[in-house]
Amino acid sequence: MTLPDAFKALVVRETTENQFVRAIEQRKIGDLPQGDVVVQVLYTSLNYKDILSATGNRGVTRNYPHTPGIDAAGIVADSTNEGFKPGDEVIVTSYDLGMNTAGGFGQYIRVPAGWVVPQPQGLKAAEAMVYGTAGFTAALSVWNMIESGVAPDDGDVLVSGATGGVGSIAVSILSKIGYSVTAVNGVADETDYLKEIGAKKIISIAEATDTNGRPLLKSRWAGGIDTVGGDILTTTIRSAKYGAAVTCCGNVAAADLPLNVYPFILRGVRLIGIDSQNCPMPIRQKIWQKIASEWKIEWLQAITTEASLAELSDKIDLMLQGKHIGRTIIKMTND
Ligand SMILES: NC(=O)c1ccc[n+]([C@@H]2O[C@H](COP(=O)([O-])OP(=O)(O)OC[C@H]3O[C@@H](n4cnc5c(N)ncnc54)[C@H](OP(=O)(O)O)[C@@H]3O)[C@@H](O)[C@H]2O)c1
Repeated sequence: MTLPDAFKALVVRETTENQFVRAIEQRKIGDLPQGDVVVQVLYTSLNYKDILSATGNRGVTRNYPHTPGIDAAGIVADSTNEGFKPGDEVIVTSYDLGMNTAGGFGQYIRVPAGWVVPQPQGLKAAEAMVYGTAGFTAALSVWNMIESGVAPDDGDVLVSGATGGVGSIAVSILSKIGYSVTAVNGVADETDYLKEIGAKKIISIAEATDTNGRPLLKSRWAGGIDTVGGDILTTTIRSAKYGAAVTCCGNVAAADLPLNVYPFILRGVRLIGIDSQNCPMPIRQKIWQKIASEWKIEWLQAITTEASLAELSDKIDLMLQGKHIGRTIIKMTND
C-alpha cells in the first residue's frame, strides 16, 4: 500500500491568548510519532476524553498542536512488525492514542504494534467504532460483572449514565444476553430511546440517589454497571443484594464515593474498578471477540449517528453542550 504525501487531520492549537482552536489541516506521515504500524483510519468515534483533549485539558493532553481521537479502526498501510502486514484490518483504542499521541481524528496514525488489535471476524470498521472505547469499556464492565458470578436469574441490574456512550452499550449488551436492566435516566426524558435499546425499567436520578446516610438500603440490585460515580454509585452499592457485583468506570457525576464498609462486610457486595486504557492484550482481544459475536448488538443503528470529518468539530460542540446521545462515529475517508 502506498503512503500518501499528505492527509487530513483535525488539529487543535493553543492561541497566544491561551484559547484552544480546532481546524482541519494537511499533515504528512513524517509528522506522526514514531511507531511500528501505520494505519489508514477508516472510522473513528467521539468519546468524552476526546472532548477534554479537544478543549485543552492538560490532564489528558499535555502539548499542542495535537490531533485527538482515542479510537481508530482501519487498514494497515505500513508495518515494520511481522505481526501485521499492509491490508490487515485492525482496531486501535486506548493506551496513549489521541492523548499525547496523534489520534484517530487524522486519516493516518502511527502506533506501536502492541496497541493494535486484529479486527475480529464479524465486525466491520464502522461497527467497531460504534463500540470504540466506550463500547469496549461497557463490554469489559459486563464481562467483569459476569465473572463475579452475577447471572440473569439473580435479578435486576442497574446501569447509570444509560443514555451515554458506555451506558447505552452496557444496557444493550446486558439485555441481549438475558439480563433484566433498569436504566437511570438523566435530565431529558429519554424513555423511548432507553426502551428501544433494551431497558426494562427506567428510574430517575432522584430515585437512584439516596443521601439519608443509612449504610444499607433495601436490597434491590443483583448487579450494577456504574458510569457516573458519586451518590448514584454509593446508592447502588448500598441497595445491592447479597453477593452482588457493581462495576465503576466513570466520574461524570462525581469522583467522590461517600460510603462505609457495611455493604461489603454484611452483604458480600463486590465493587470492581474498570480501566480500559491499560487492559491487558489477552483480555482486550477476548472482549473484542465477544463484541463481534455473541454480544453483538442488532440495533447498532439506533445507537449511532454517522458524521464526516468536516462535521466533526460541530459534533464536538454538541457533546460539550451535553446534547449528545449514544455514539457518534466519524467516516474519515473521501472528505
Ligand atoms: N474507566 C475507563 O476505562 C473508561 C473508559 C471510557 C469512559 N470512561 C468514563 O465513563 C464515563 C461515561 O463516559 P461516556 O463516554 O459514556 O460519557 P457520555 O456519553 O457523556 O455519557 C455520560 C452519561 O452520564 C449522564 N450524566 C451526566 N451527568 C450526570 C450526573 N450529574 N448524574 C448522573 N448522570 C449524569 C448523562 O445522562 P443524561 O444525558 O441522561 O443526563 C449521560 O448519559 C466518563 O466519566 C468517562 O470518562 C471510563
